[in-house]
Amino acid sequence: MMFVSFVLGALAVASLVSPVACVDPAVNLTSSLYIGQPLLSGITQWLGMRYAAPPVGELRFQPPSDPPFVASPQPATQHGKICLGTGDSPNSTLSSEDCLFLDVYAPSNATANSNLPVFVFIQGGGFSNNAEPNLNGTGLIMASDRSIIVVTFNYRVGPYGFLTDGGSDQIPANNGLRDQRKALEWVQNNIGQFGGDPGHVVLGGVSAGAASISLHMVAYGGRDESLFHAVAAESVSFPMLLKDYETKYQYENLAIRLGCAGETESDTIGCLRGKSAVEIQEQNFNIPYPGGANPPLYMWGPVIDHDMLNDFMYAAFEKGKFVRVRAAIFGDDTNGGSVFVPPGVSSLGQCSQFIKDQYPYVSLEQLWKLNQMYHSPDADQQGNCTSAVKTGCGGWRRQLSNLYGEMRYMCPSIFVIESLMRYKVDATYAYRWNVEDRDQMDDGLGVPHTSELSALFGPDNIPSGFGIEVPKSYFPDGTNAQAVAAIQGYWTSFIRSYDPNRFYHHKGGRGPANWHLLDYIGYPYQRMVFDTGGTTCMEEIDRGLSKRCEYLREVGIHQ
Ligand SMILES: *[C@@H]1O[C@H](CO)[C@@H](O)[C@H](O)[C@H]1NC(C)=O
Ligand SMILES: *[C@@H]1O[C@H](CO)[C@@H](O)[C@H](O)[C@H]1NC(C)=O
Ligand SMILES: *[C@@H]1O[C@H](CO)[C@@H](O)[C@H](O)[C@H]1NC(C)=O
Ligand SMILES: *[C@@H]1O[C@H](CO)[C@@H](O)[C@H](O)[C@H]1NC(C)=O
Ligand SMILES: *[C@@H]1O[C@H](CO)[C@@H](O)[C@H](O)[C@H]1NC(C)=O
Repeated sequence: MMFVSFVLGALAVASLVSPVACVDPAVNLTSSLYIGQPLLSGITQWLGMRYAAPPVGELRFQPPSDPPFVASPQPATQHGKICLGTGDSPNSTLSSEDCLFLDVYAPSNATANSNLPVFVFIQGGGFSNNAEPNLNGTGLIMASDRSIIVVTFNYRVGPYGFLTDGGSDQIPANNGLRDQRKALEWVQNNIGQFGGDPGHVVLGGVSAGAASISLHMVAYGGRDESLFHAVAAESVSFPMLLKDYETKYQYENLAIRLGCAGETESDTIGCLRGKSAVEIQEQNFNIPYPGGANPPLYMWGPVIDHDMLNDFMYAAFEKGKFVRVRAAIFGDDTNGGSVFVPPGVSSLGQCSQFIKDQYPYVSLEQLWKLNQMYHSPDADQQGNCTSAVKTGCGGWRRQLSNLYGEMRYMCPSIFVIESLMRYKVDATYAYRWNVEDRDQMDDGLGVPHTSELSALFGPDNIPSGFGIEVPKSYFPDGTNAQAVAAIQGYWTSFIRSYDPNRFYHHKGGRGPANWHLLDYIGYPYQRMVFDTGGTTCMEEIDRGLSKRCEYLREVGIHQ
């Protein structure tokens, strides 16, 4: 590690004479020397380090490559820009095509010999946006008594990360997932210099980030490349996976909209690479799936390319083709579907259309059965669905919210848990986040998708300006402040020891419930419920839910 006294003056001198050797804010990586920033809290942050080359020009639509070497020391005091998202304004100043940056937070008293556990967190955004960027790792590190390291990063999304040319391999599929693996390789090669243990990496993620965890578990047929050793997946989903040839319409439509239809495929791709990012952004919106009537919520995403991904998620987990991690947490929020369902849904037809638009391969018989299973008694009554306040709306919205929530989120997470148990990943823990926030309840959202995220990082550590709504009741003086302590207590214990109970301690408040290991002796098995006010207890997965999930797994519409 190099000593940069001209930049850090007094601080660096202090670390030289101090009897405790601390991690130097200046870390000399192969790509460059980065100078981080020690904070008053005893944590040092390094922001905006490149883990891959700018994916622009000839590198657009290519797998990530190594960052270029930069000889002069670089201050690591500002986040990098986030990746261009589908539907983002072409002129946004927050995002850029040059976006493959990573942030590290480490206790300042760590040394290159500390071997601290590392938590690498993958943000969500439906593979179409970087929806939870720049999360501040200091809350989790404080909750761990300064004994872990936190890494967050951006990855390509939308066409930049997930365009394919329909299988003819000039544009490799799944580049956004390849970015994520590149970040994990960066951690393997570099985290030791920050005080981290590359042999103890816990992979975290929310929503599409949690889907990414599942995808990395099954990638390359479940090959274990030792990039991560345990996983903690929040608000898991199984994305709808198209096969590479099924995505050709996306490529053709984008090329057409950009005026890039060429005489040969190379001409077309050359034209696409020649467009400015602003020109691409102007055409970066979703179109309906073939067979759908309206654009789906998320169109761009991982595809089965018979390289990285060989199978649908249900099939891969069923066959046991996944990385046998040391330990796992999987869980979801009670009302995972509520934020996605259009408030105006007021008929059975609209419910079915919404599902068909997201899952174009669903059949009429399957829709019939799904509507039977999720039928809610008040669905037939006419509700007030034009009201901005969604609670005023009738039961069709609830029915669709329950169906979509379980189809996309709850049942995939339950299926992964069951597969892990079946294949003897014994340290598997399941949870349900059921912390009711008054405003979210008043908005008719129940306990919505990803609400545990603000609690996990701590409400003060969610950046503003990116549209993440932090429930008011999670803040230190709020009614759910204890729920924050609870999730941070269990997660930091898990990150440190692969066991959520071992180092758990509450800073005040009620003692924790023991989070039982799952024991696969058939149903019912138990999961941890994080409840309103911060209480925790174990509950059984009810038979109704497991039966519905069983049907959804059998159907497994391209998931
Ligand atoms: C960083 O390390 C490289 C080789 O590992 C070395 O050549 C270079 O001089 C170092 N840079 C500084 C500023 O110490
Ligand atoms: C973006 O900026 C360009 C010029 O810089 C302008 O022509 C265009 O209208 C802007 N687009 C939007 C959506 O603001
Ligand atoms: C750093 O300081 C914290 C809090 O004072 C302590 O708990 C921890 O053990 C220290 N870590 C190292 C690596 O010295
Ligand atoms: C993270 O939080 C700490 C403590 O509030 C603050 O000092 C630091 O600047 C924050 N870092 C970022 C990147 O926002
Ligand atoms: C629906 O709700 C809106 C807003 O609260 C209200 O203005 C309207 O009168 C209501 N319509 C019906 C039919 O109740």
